[in-house]
Amino acid sequence: MACSNHKKPSKLQYDSLVVQGVPARENEYGSIMPPIFLSSTYRFEDINTQGPYEYIRTQNPTREKAEKLMATLEGAQHAYGFSSGMAAISAIFETLKPGDHIISSANIYGGTYRYFTDCFAKNQIDYTFCQDLNTLTAADFKPETKAVYLESPANPTLRVVDIAKVAKLAHEHGAIVIVDNTFMTSYLQRPLDLGADIVAYSATKYYGGHADLCAGFVITNDDKLAEQIAFIQNTFGATISPFDSYTLIRGVKTMSLRLDRQLENVKYVIEALQQQPGIQKVFYPGSYSAEEAAIHAKQATGSGAVVSFEVAPTIDLGQFFEHLQMIDLAVSLGGVESLMCQPTTTSHEPYPDAELAKIGVHENMVRFAVGIENHNDIINDLTQALQQAQRN
Ligand SMILES: Cc1ncc(COP(=O)(O)O)c(C=O)c1O
Repeated sequence: MACSNHKKPSKLQYDSLVVQGVPARENEYGSIMPPIFLSSTYRFEDINTQGPYEYIRTQNPTREKAEKLMATLEGAQHAYGFSSGMAAISAIFETLKPGDHIISSANIYGGTYRYFTDCFAKNQIDYTFCQDLNTLTAADFKPETKAVYLESPANPTLRVVDIAKVAKLAHEHGAIVIVDNTFMTSYLQRPLDLGADIVAYSATKYYGGHADLCAGFVITNDDKLAEQIAFIQNTFGATISPFDSYTLIRGVKTMSLRLDRQLENVKYVIEALQQQPGIQKVFYPGSYSAEEAAIHAKQATGSGAVVSFEVAPTIDLGQFFEHLQMIDLAVSLGGVESLMCQPTTTSHEPYPDAELAKIGVHENMVRFAVGIENHNDIINDLTQALQQAQRN
């Protein structure tokens, strides 16, 4: 029951859409926040007449609102909610068939890397890791190549890939492009507008925003791909729950506000890190080369809020983590709290050492998910922990 005699607002800016993307005027009783429909099943009118909802795995009113919101924010036709980012990515990979081949950036999230190395073989899907997709050429495509997979910027090196260039080349060879846009969100980068075919998200990160949600999304404008993803979502059943759908809707309301603050904090953090004698290298989107900086500036509207750094041999990393007083040593990113982790032992633990070395991830690297705290407190904590961790 819609309760409205108002007109729907016309096209809103992104920072309005995050707040108004689930219009209160479409909610029952005019409630400003949508209700959480927990019912797992719905009455049929009679044996021949089913209502708009039937069974929770197939669709649910709260999930539907979250999915519509995610599609709206992306400016896309279709969005599907999953129980985690990995469930979303796995659903996309499930569209591949035995005999297919997929090309991927060598540097991706460790859990996704594990899918490539441990799950594709049993489905007879071949894959190639490419150290730098910006150098991809026609010769890298086989007749069986059906997809190119990438993160830009990549976790945790923040390496950048020219999405439009890769999409053009992939399409010339009949392959689709899948972009994990978790680090950017649709606020900072729109892969579909750049020519990608599917966008994947770990909504556990910036969309949730408060380290209290596990969710993932697959978003596309391609009706055929959308049909396949909907089938996989319903068949495998790793759907986002009604409660998590609500948590997502609530989290998204402040996403642009949170990210604006995080982007500001990141500028201070990069500057501070570059001045620390205990830090030997700082990684952020575009830091790898002038070419990558130009690509990122062209395809995104901000750096995102993850930076990585390498500590110098003069710093005992264990002691550094131990002496942090405000910033927590924890995996994940995208929440309001500043978090740090060592990728080699956490997010990228599935990589063999030799492969980590190839992508430039070493034991002295720290991934820093910058939060929304006061930047002076963040920098003070970082600085004092580095001082305490000096080797004698
Ligand atoms: C870039 C990226 N993609 C996907 C994932 C997986 O998301 P989830 O933990 O929600 O399954 C992560 C998790 O850290 C990630 O960093």
